[in-house]
Amino acid sequence: MTGLKVSTGAACSKLLGIGGYRPRRVVDNAEICTLIDSSDEWIRTRSGIIERRWASPDETVQMMSVAASRKALERAGIEAPQIDTVIVSTVTHLYQTPAVATTIASELGAKGAAAFDISAACAGFCYATAMADSFIRSGASKYVLIIGVERLSDLTNKHDRSTAFLFADGAGAAVVGPSEVPGVGPVVWGSDGDQALLIQQTASWDRALSASEDSDGMALWPTLRMEGNPVFKWAAYTMSKTAAEALDAAGVSPDDLDVFVPHQANMRITDAMFKALKLPEQVVVGRDIAYQGNTSAASIPLAIEALLESGQAHSGQTCLIIGFGAGLVYAGQVILIP
Ligand SMILES: CC(C)(COP(=O)(O)OP(=O)(O)OC[C@H]1O[C@@H](n2cnc3c(N)ncnc32)[C@H](O)[C@@H]1OP(=O)(O)O)[C@@H](O)C(=O)NCCC(=O)NCCS
Repeated sequence: MTGLKVSTGAACSKLLGIGGYRPRRVVDNAEICTLIDSSDEWIRTRSGIIERRWASPDETVQMMSVAASRKALERAGIEAPQIDTVIVSTVTHLYQTPAVATTIASELGAKGAAAFDISAACAGFCYATAMADSFIRSGASKYVLIIGVERLSDLTNKHDRSTAFLFADGAGAAVVGPSEVPGVGPVVWGSDGDQALLIQQTASWDRALSASEDSDGMALWPTLRMEGNPVFKWAAYTMSKTAAEALDAAGVSPDDLDVFVPHQANMRITDAMFKALKLPEQVVVGRDIAYQGNTSAASIPLAIEALLESGQAHSGQTCLIIGFGAGLVYAGQVILIP
């Protein structure tokens, strides 16, 4: 038997365009504090969050994804039919099946594209970036649309003071395509399932359903619970080491780095990582959390878009991205800003 043919792809890949969707409704800390025992001052100093966005009923996972993707496609100069692969990272699409990626591809006009969802929580955008890069270099794909989208407000207990002020909604998308120069560095990624209980849904869907049947008609709607303090320490210390490894893997020294965009989990985590990485003061830092809250898989592309729109970051600059969250999972790499 002769050997199978194998595909070969482009030498390198890069992000060609990025776009975001921020829900219309702004929720300030005063509104949050009508439901939890907290204060604007506590929320600002402990998390850096001033306000966040919560989606209205019409701002669905599908709708927000399509809006963000249209911006990313336009900025990339790519037409939807050129997209051959769509990867959506979300933990808040409330249908088990089908994947939302297929209907997003159809609505955009990327008909026939390979399309699937991944569940990698706040590391989702970096997981999807790594996959897109590999697919393009292997020849499996040419133009990949990656989307991080969440409606975390659907799975947040608005009376839980450890999460109610943190989680928010939005979508970020990027088009990744072939390139002659490296635009996506090696990914450093992994997981630690031993710590899965630190951030998880309060009940599985089947348990929630049986509980609602057993009780007095009160539905037990699962929400996300989190042990904030151990997550904070893991993110601030262990993830700083992962971020340093991603820089090293790309052959980029802290002095060569232009932009740092960690997952927008907590401003204090961002500050701790910046310090641990010994980044020079001139490195521009994504601080979108102040006005968006923690939007999980959407937070990194939204933060990059904000830096581009404000003129703080520019196309072609080196940018370290790192995502970390429920699983626990993590992934980081250096990219060139589109
Ligand atoms: C959630 C988080 C902001 C809490 O901050 P923290 O400094 O760890 O706070 P702690 O839980 O240790 O609580 C400190 C004190 O504030 C109080 N507190 C907790 N939540 C509060 C709130 N919403 N408002 C006011 N006080 C609050 C606690 O009761 C405690 O009081 P005490 O000192 O009198 O016992 C922080 O742990 C965090 O950001 N964790 C990581 C979040 C994250 O990254 N999650 C997602 C990863 S994707």
